[in-house]
Amino acid sequence: MESIKVFAPASVANVACGFDVLGFAVSAPGDEIILRKNSTGKLQILSIEGDDGKLPRDIEKNSATAVIKNILVHLGNSQGIDISLFKKMPLGSGLGSSAASSVAGAFAVNELLGRPLSVRELLPFAMEGERIACGTAHADNVAPSLLGGFILIRSYEPLDVIKLPSLKNLFAAVIHPQIEIKTKDARGILKKEITLRDAVRQWGNVGGFVAALYSADYGLLGRSMIDHIVEPTRSILLPGYDQVKESAMAAGALGCGISGSGPSLFALCRGQDIARKAGIGMAKVFEDLKIESEIYVSEINQKGPQILN
Ligand code: HSE
Repeated sequence: MESIKVFAPASVANVACGFDVLGFAVSAPGDEIILRKNSTGKLQILSIEGDDGKLPRDIEKNSATAVIKNILVHLGNSQGIDISLFKKMPLGSGLGSSAASSVAGAFAVNELLGRPLSVRELLPFAMEGERIACGTAHADNVAPSLLGGFILIRSYEPLDVIKLPSLKNLFAAVIHPQIEIKTKDARGILKKEITLRDAVRQWGNVGGFVAALYSADYGLLGRSMIDHIVEPTRSILLPGYDQVKESAMAAGALGCGISGSGPSLFALCRGQDIARKAGIGMAKVFEDLKIESEIYVSEINQKGPQILN
Protein backbone atom coordinates (compact mmCIF):
# COMPACT_ATOMS: atom_id res chain seq x y z
CA MET A 1 0.00 0.00 0.00
CA GLU A 2 1.46 3.37 -1.04
CA SER A 3 -1.16 5.71 0.39
CA ILE A 4 -4.26 5.73 2.55
CA LYS A 5 -7.11 8.06 3.46
CA VAL A 6 -8.79 7.62 6.85
CA PHE A 7 -11.76 9.19 8.63
CA ALA A 8 -11.86 9.30 12.45
CA PRO A 9 -15.02 10.34 14.26
CA ALA A 10 -15.77 13.02 16.81
CA SER A 11 -16.82 11.88 20.26
CA VAL A 12 -18.72 12.98 23.34
CA ALA A 13 -16.64 12.60 26.49
CA ASN A 14 -17.83 12.45 30.11
CA VAL A 15 -21.46 11.71 29.06
CA ALA A 16 -22.61 13.83 32.03
CA CYS A 17 -21.74 11.57 34.97
CA GLY A 18 -18.43 10.01 33.87
CA PHE A 19 -15.75 12.71 33.89
CA ASP A 20 -12.67 11.25 32.16
CA VAL A 21 -14.13 7.70 32.24
CA LEU A 22 -17.11 7.62 29.84
CA GLY A 23 -17.40 8.57 26.18
CA PHE A 24 -19.08 7.62 22.94
CA ALA A 25 -18.36 8.12 19.24
CA VAL A 26 -20.69 9.87 16.81
CA SER A 27 -20.99 9.36 13.06
CA ALA A 28 -20.26 12.97 12.14
CA PRO A 29 -18.37 15.23 12.23
CA GLY A 30 -14.82 13.86 12.14
CA ASP A 31 -11.37 14.41 10.70
CA GLU A 32 -9.70 12.98 7.61
CA ILE A 33 -6.05 12.28 6.97
CA ILE A 34 -4.13 11.19 3.88
CA LEU A 35 -0.76 9.48 4.27
CA ARG A 36 1.50 8.74 1.33
CA LYS A 37 4.83 6.93 1.53
CA ASN A 38 7.83 8.95 0.34
CA SER A 39 11.43 7.97 -0.21
CA THR A 40 13.03 10.71 1.90
CA GLY A 41 12.90 8.77 5.17
CA LYS A 42 11.20 11.82 6.73
CA LEU A 43 7.75 12.79 7.91
CA GLN A 44 6.48 15.87 6.10
CA ILE A 45 3.28 17.83 6.65
CA LEU A 46 2.09 18.66 3.13
CA SER A 47 -1.03 20.50 4.23
CA ILE A 48 -3.46 21.09 7.07
CA GLU A 49 -6.84 22.39 6.00
CA GLY A 50 -9.86 23.55 7.96
CA ASP A 51 -8.04 24.84 11.05
CA ASP A 52 -7.66 28.51 10.04
CA GLY A 53 -3.93 28.08 10.51
CA LYS A 54 -4.35 27.40 14.25
CA LEU A 55 -2.75 23.96 14.53
CA PRO A 56 1.01 23.54 14.90
CA ARG A 57 2.89 22.68 11.69
CA ASP A 58 5.74 21.19 13.70
CA ILE A 59 5.64 17.35 13.49
CA GLU A 60 6.29 16.93 17.23
CA LYS A 61 3.73 19.52 18.36
CA ASN A 62 0.81 18.53 16.14
CA SER A 63 -1.13 15.71 17.80
CA ALA A 64 -1.79 13.73 14.58
CA THR A 65 1.76 13.87 13.29
CA ALA A 66 3.40 13.36 16.70
CA VAL A 67 1.37 10.18 17.11
CA ILE A 68 2.52 8.96 13.68
CA LYS A 69 6.12 9.70 14.59
CA ASN A 70 5.86 7.92 17.95
CA ILE A 71 4.41 4.82 16.31
CA LEU A 72 7.21 4.73 13.71
CA VAL A 73 9.83 5.14 16.45
CA HIS A 74 8.17 2.39 18.51
CA LEU A 75 8.26 0.06 15.49
CA GLY A 76 11.84 1.03 14.58
CA ASN A 77 10.51 1.91 11.13
CA SER A 78 12.12 4.77 9.17
CA GLN A 79 9.48 5.00 6.44
CA GLY A 80 9.10 8.54 5.12
CA ILE A 81 5.50 9.75 4.89
CA ASP A 82 3.77 12.80 3.43
CA ILE A 83 0.83 13.87 5.61
CA SER A 84 -2.26 15.88 4.69
CA LEU A 85 -4.75 16.59 7.48
CA PHE A 86 -8.28 17.79 6.86
CA LYS A 87 -9.94 19.25 9.96
CA LYS A 88 -13.61 18.68 9.30
CA MET A 89 -14.72 19.70 12.75
CA PRO A 90 -14.30 22.79 14.89
CA LEU A 91 -11.33 23.16 17.23
CA GLY A 92 -12.00 23.70 20.94
CA SER A 93 -15.57 22.50 20.50
CA GLY A 94 -15.83 19.75 23.10
CA LEU A 95 -16.27 17.19 20.35
CA GLY A 96 -12.88 15.55 20.68
CA SER A 97 -11.22 17.40 17.83
CA SER A 98 -7.63 16.65 18.87
CA ALA A 99 -8.64 13.06 19.64
CA ALA A 100 -10.09 12.58 16.15
CA SER A 101 -6.82 13.84 14.62
CA SER A 102 -4.71 11.62 16.88
CA VAL A 103 -6.84 8.59 16.12
CA ALA A 104 -6.85 9.31 12.39
CA GLY A 105 -3.05 9.50 12.42
CA ALA A 106 -2.56 6.40 14.54
CA PHE A 107 -5.03 4.27 12.61
CA ALA A 108 -3.82 5.44 9.19
CA VAL A 109 -0.11 4.84 9.80
CA ASN A 110 -0.80 1.39 11.22
CA GLU A 111 -2.84 0.44 8.15
CA LEU A 112 -0.25 1.96 5.79
CA LEU A 113 2.44 -0.22 7.36
CA GLY A 114 0.38 -3.41 7.05
CA ARG A 115 -1.17 -3.38 10.54
CA PRO A 116 1.82 -4.23 12.76
CA LEU A 117 -0.21 -3.24 15.85
CA SER A 118 -3.71 -4.18 16.95
CA VAL A 119 -6.25 -1.36 17.14
CA ARG A 120 -6.17 -1.60 20.95
CA GLU A 121 -2.38 -1.22 20.91
CA LEU A 122 -2.83 2.13 19.16
CA LEU A 123 -4.70 3.58 22.14
CA PRO A 124 -1.71 4.67 24.31
CA PHE A 125 -0.20 6.40 21.25
CA ALA A 126 -3.43 8.28 20.54
CA MET A 127 -3.64 9.25 24.23
CA GLU A 128 -0.20 10.84 23.95
CA GLY A 129 -1.67 12.93 21.12
CA GLU A 130 -4.20 14.25 23.67
CA ARG A 131 -1.38 15.11 26.05
CA ILE A 132 0.35 17.10 23.31
CA ALA A 133 -2.87 18.95 22.45
CA CYS A 134 -4.20 19.74 25.92
CA GLY A 135 -1.76 18.66 28.58
CA THR A 136 -3.37 15.45 29.87
CA ALA A 137 -3.59 12.01 28.32
CA HIS A 138 -7.25 11.37 29.09
CA ALA A 139 -8.82 8.59 27.00
CA ASP A 140 -12.53 9.40 27.05
CA ASN A 141 -12.39 10.94 23.55
CA VAL A 142 -9.62 8.90 21.92
CA ALA A 143 -10.92 5.50 23.07
CA PRO A 144 -14.44 5.92 21.60
CA SER A 145 -13.04 7.53 18.45
CA LEU A 146 -10.66 4.59 18.01
CA LEU A 147 -12.88 1.71 19.14
CA GLY A 148 -16.36 3.07 18.38
CA GLY A 149 -19.43 2.83 20.60
CA PHE A 150 -19.67 3.60 24.32
CA ILE A 151 -16.44 3.27 26.26
CA LEU A 152 -15.69 3.02 29.98
CA ILE A 153 -12.15 3.70 31.15
CA ARG A 154 -12.24 1.67 34.35
CA SER A 155 -8.63 2.50 35.16
CA TYR A 156 -5.82 4.63 33.76
CA GLU A 157 -3.00 2.94 35.67
CA PRO A 158 -2.97 0.27 34.43
CA LEU A 159 -5.07 1.18 31.40
CA ASP A 160 -8.31 -0.83 31.44
CA VAL A 161 -10.71 0.18 28.67
CA ILE A 162 -14.06 -1.52 28.27
CA LYS A 163 -16.35 -1.30 25.25
CA LEU A 164 -19.91 -1.16 26.52
CA PRO A 165 -23.05 -2.22 24.65
CA SER A 166 -25.27 0.43 23.12
CA LEU A 167 -29.03 0.72 22.90
CA LYS A 168 -30.63 0.02 19.56
CA ASN A 169 -32.62 3.18 19.20
CA LEU A 170 -30.29 5.64 20.89
CA PHE A 171 -29.44 8.88 19.09
CA ALA A 172 -27.36 11.86 20.10
CA ALA A 173 -28.14 15.49 19.38
CA VAL A 174 -25.09 17.70 19.74
CA ILE A 175 -25.19 21.46 19.60
CA HIS A 176 -22.00 23.39 18.99
CA PRO A 177 -22.26 27.10 19.77
CA GLN A 178 -19.63 29.35 18.20
CA ILE A 179 -17.67 29.84 21.38
CA GLU A 180 -14.20 28.41 21.89
CA ILE A 181 -13.26 26.78 25.18
CA LYS A 182 -9.82 25.24 25.49
CA THR A 183 -9.83 21.89 27.29
CA LYS A 184 -6.76 22.99 29.24
CA ASP A 185 -8.65 26.00 30.59
CA ALA A 186 -11.84 24.04 31.29
CA ARG A 187 -9.77 21.54 33.29
CA GLY A 188 -7.85 24.29 35.07
CA ILE A 189 -10.97 25.71 36.74
CA LEU A 190 -12.07 22.39 38.26
CA LYS A 191 -11.98 21.79 42.01
CA LYS A 192 -9.18 19.45 43.02
CA GLU A 193 -11.16 17.94 45.88
CA ILE A 194 -14.77 16.83 46.13
CA THR A 195 -17.04 15.91 49.02
CA LEU A 196 -17.84 12.33 49.89
CA ARG A 197 -21.53 13.16 49.36
CA ASP A 198 -20.90 14.23 45.76
CA ALA A 199 -18.64 11.24 45.12
CA VAL A 200 -21.37 8.86 46.31
CA ARG A 201 -23.98 10.50 44.09
CA GLN A 202 -21.61 10.46 41.12
CA TRP A 203 -20.47 6.85 41.26
CA GLY A 204 -24.09 5.82 41.76
CA ASN A 205 -24.87 7.51 38.46
CA VAL A 206 -21.89 5.99 36.62
CA GLY A 207 -22.97 2.54 37.82
CA GLY A 208 -26.55 3.31 36.81
CA PHE A 209 -25.48 4.46 33.35
CA VAL A 210 -23.45 1.31 32.70
CA ALA A 211 -26.25 -0.90 34.07
CA ALA A 212 -28.73 0.86 31.77
CA LEU A 213 -26.63 0.04 28.70
CA TYR A 214 -26.46 -3.63 29.68
CA SER A 215 -30.16 -3.88 30.55
CA ALA A 216 -31.45 -1.65 27.71
CA ASP A 217 -33.20 0.53 30.27
CA TYR A 218 -33.72 3.95 28.68
CA GLY A 219 -35.28 5.42 31.83
CA LEU A 220 -32.34 4.42 34.01
CA LEU A 221 -29.96 5.79 31.39
CA GLY A 222 -31.63 9.21 31.55
CA ARG A 223 -31.82 9.24 35.38
CA SER A 224 -28.11 8.52 35.55
CA MET A 225 -27.08 11.40 33.30
CA ILE A 226 -26.46 13.89 36.08
CA ASP A 227 -23.08 15.36 36.92
CA HIS A 228 -22.72 16.62 40.49
CA ILE A 229 -19.01 17.34 40.21
CA VAL A 230 -17.79 18.93 36.98
CA GLU A 231 -20.78 20.56 35.26
CA PRO A 232 -21.70 22.82 38.19
CA THR A 233 -18.29 24.46 37.78
CA ARG A 234 -17.98 24.38 34.02
CA SER A 235 -21.51 25.58 33.33
CA ILE A 236 -20.46 29.11 34.31
CA LEU A 237 -18.46 29.20 31.06
CA LEU A 238 -21.58 28.40 29.02
CA PRO A 239 -24.19 31.06 28.32
CA GLY A 240 -27.64 29.46 28.11
CA TYR A 241 -26.57 26.22 29.83
CA ASP A 242 -29.75 25.79 31.93
CA GLN A 243 -32.08 26.78 29.10
CA VAL A 244 -30.37 24.43 26.62
CA LYS A 245 -30.83 21.53 29.03
CA GLU A 246 -34.43 22.50 29.68
CA SER A 247 -35.21 22.69 25.97
CA ALA A 248 -33.63 19.28 25.27
CA MET A 249 -35.60 17.69 28.09
CA ALA A 250 -38.80 19.43 26.93
CA ALA A 251 -38.26 17.84 23.50
CA GLY A 252 -38.19 14.42 25.17
CA ALA A 253 -34.46 13.80 25.59
CA LEU A 254 -33.42 11.18 28.11
CA GLY A 255 -30.66 13.40 29.46
CA CYS A 256 -28.47 16.32 28.48
CA GLY A 257 -25.05 17.57 29.48
CA ILE A 258 -21.84 19.29 28.41
CA SER A 259 -19.99 17.42 25.67
CA GLY A 260 -16.44 16.91 26.93
CA SER A 261 -15.07 20.20 28.18
CA GLY A 262 -17.62 22.21 26.18
CA PRO A 263 -18.86 24.48 24.76
CA SER A 264 -20.92 21.85 22.89
CA LEU A 265 -23.80 20.24 24.72
CA PHE A 266 -25.31 16.87 23.89
CA ALA A 267 -28.58 15.10 24.53
CA LEU A 268 -29.17 11.36 24.34
CA CYS A 269 -32.57 10.53 22.93
CA ARG A 270 -34.72 7.50 22.25
CA GLY A 271 -35.22 7.73 18.47
CA GLN A 272 -33.99 10.02 15.73
CA ASP A 273 -37.09 12.21 15.68
CA ILE A 274 -36.72 13.17 19.33
CA ALA A 275 -33.00 13.82 18.77
CA ARG A 276 -33.83 16.15 15.87
CA LYS A 277 -36.40 17.99 17.99
CA ALA A 278 -33.94 18.28 20.86
CA GLY A 279 -31.27 19.64 18.50
CA ILE A 280 -33.62 22.28 17.12
CA GLY A 281 -34.73 23.26 20.64
CA MET A 282 -31.16 23.61 21.84
CA ALA A 283 -30.21 25.67 18.77
CA LYS A 284 -33.16 28.01 19.41
CA VAL A 285 -31.73 28.91 22.81
CA PHE A 286 -28.43 29.96 21.24
CA GLU A 287 -30.28 31.80 18.48
CA ASP A 288 -32.13 33.81 21.13
CA LEU A 289 -28.76 34.58 22.72
CA LYS A 290 -27.46 35.69 19.29
CA ILE A 291 -24.86 32.93 19.30
CA GLU A 292 -24.48 30.95 16.09
CA SER A 293 -24.56 27.19 16.46
CA GLU A 294 -24.43 23.95 14.49
CA ILE A 295 -26.53 20.87 15.22
CA TYR A 296 -25.30 17.32 14.70
CA VAL A 297 -27.77 14.45 15.05
CA SER A 298 -26.14 11.06 15.00
CA GLU A 299 -26.53 7.45 15.91
CA ILE A 300 -23.87 6.00 18.20
CA ASN A 301 -20.95 5.24 15.87
CA GLN A 302 -19.92 1.63 16.45
CA LYS A 303 -17.19 1.51 13.81
CA GLY A 304 -14.62 4.11 14.88
CA PRO A 305 -12.11 5.05 12.16
CA GLN A 306 -12.74 4.06 8.56
CA ILE A 307 -10.58 3.74 5.46
CA LEU A 308 -11.99 5.99 2.74
CA ASN A 309 -10.25 4.71 -0.37
N1 HSE B 1 -12.80 14.38 30.04
C1 HSE B 1 -12.23 15.51 29.39
C2 HSE B 1 -12.63 16.78 30.11
C3 HSE B 1 -12.70 15.56 27.97
O1 HSE B 1 -13.81 16.92 30.41
O2 HSE B 1 -11.77 17.61 30.40
C4 HSE B 1 -12.24 16.77 27.22
O3 HSE B 1 -11.48 16.44 26.15
